[in-house]
Amino acid sequence: MTRYLIAPSILSADFAQLGNEVSHVITAGADIIHFDVMDNHYVPNLTVGPMVCSAIRPMVKVPIDVHLMVKPVDSMVTAFAKAGADIISFHAEASEHIDRTLQLIHDNGCKAGLAFNPATPLGYIEHVIDKLDLILIMSVNPGFGGQSFIPHALEKIATVRKMIDASGRDILLEVDGGIKTDNIALVAQAGADTFVSGSAIFNSPDYTATIQAMRAQLKTVS
Ligand code: DX5
Ligand code: ZN
Repeated sequence: MTRYLIAPSILSADFAQLGNEVSHVITAGADIIHFDVMDNHYVPNLTVGPMVCSAIRPMVKVPIDVHLMVKPVDSMVTAFAKAGADIISFHAEASEHIDRTLQLIHDNGCKAGLAFNPATPLGYIEHVIDKLDLILIMSVNPGFGGQSFIPHALEKIATVRKMIDASGRDILLEVDGGIKTDNIALVAQAGADTFVSGSAIFNSPDYTATIQAMRAQLKTVS
């Protein structure tokens, strides 16, 4: 049976009380903390860097999943590994040398993920699948929380699920963007096992109830 992981994105948390928000969402049942890093260059928004990751690390007892939306990538890999990241993902277009960046992530003791925007082809995967611990399918264009899920992502998720199963490797299939209680089962049915959710959790009045409602939906997936 698939083990489903819920990964709240801190992008929609109250940044004035980030430590409390992170502790709260972990108590509410988060499996992973998704940490969105934007540079106002690769994406048109600016968020947080390694110092903030270091600051929350002591209170986070679950893996920290750093989603780098930055270009260039490599200097941020070493910085976030030092800041306590467990998983580091980057976008295929943002690295000049994808294979080298994946190796760098592993050399720094972290799990490595490769992220695909809605219009990015999946072809890279076949060349680097032996170095991947996670494949991140974006179901919105990166840069902002609170956008609507792009339905075309479902086909892509199904294709990646086949690629992962054919490889026989233990690779998480994470989906990011517009995931809510009312579409999480559809995303799981397509083949995802790890669900990033920002606004649906942090804008809800009760994080525990929202995460439990998501898990209840996931139980309906055959
Ligand atoms: C978008 C970010 C997402 C985002 C998800 O660029 O990578 O992680 O915060 O937020 P929601 O769930 O609100 O779409
Ligand atoms: Zn993200």
